[in-house]
Amino acid sequence: TESISQLIDRLAAVVPDYPEPGVSFKDLTPVFADPVGFRRIVDSIVDPFRGTFDLIAGLEARGFILASAAAYATGTGMLTIRKKGKLPREILAESYQLEYGEATLEVQRDDIPSGTRVLVLDDVLATGGTLNASTKLIERAGGVVVGIGVVMELEDLGGRGRLPGRHIHSLSAV
Ligand code: PRP
Ligand code: MG
Repeated sequence: TESISQLIDRLAAVVPDYPEPGVSFKDLTPVFADPVGFRRIVDSIVDPFRGTFDLIAGLEARGFILASAAAYATGTGMLTIRKKGKLPREILAESYQLEYGEATLEVQRDDIPSGTRVLVLDDVLATGGTLNASTKLIERAGGVVVGIGVVMELEDLGGRGRLPGRHIHSLSAV
């Protein structure tokens, strides 16, 4: 039967020269839109972590899709790590570098009770800036990051190197 990485390869849409010439962009939209694909991705991304987490964090925006489905499937709650300026209560913030400029992610401090074991999900690990900021936020709030799950890892961008010591489960690598 088809492996999860084969399924992602088959369903992902490859967009040549996007967002700039020479870059081959892998669009996961059709993977999420496929009924078998979406279920397999959600099941596979949590598999190695079953029984080890109390809460699933999703990173705005595309991480929300995975985290909410995975939380529902595993009977867990889910937490949104949000882009700047969206949360009404006391926040913790972490900024990180993008190719052009800077971005900030935020979490509400009291949404993570001390010692909560958190699984962090996002669609893509590229430079690792997003996941690095998110794991820092969760730990500053008092949570314990038990692992990271992503659908796709862009190995050339070295994101894993920015997340030393983390248990990272990627369903496919390019
Ligand atoms: C994309 C992607 C990851 C992040 C990976 O999100 O969904 O979250 O980039 O890049 P990095 O490893 O270099 O940080 P983006 O910020 O483009 O926005 P979106 O999820 O809101 O669409
Ligand atoms: Mg994102």
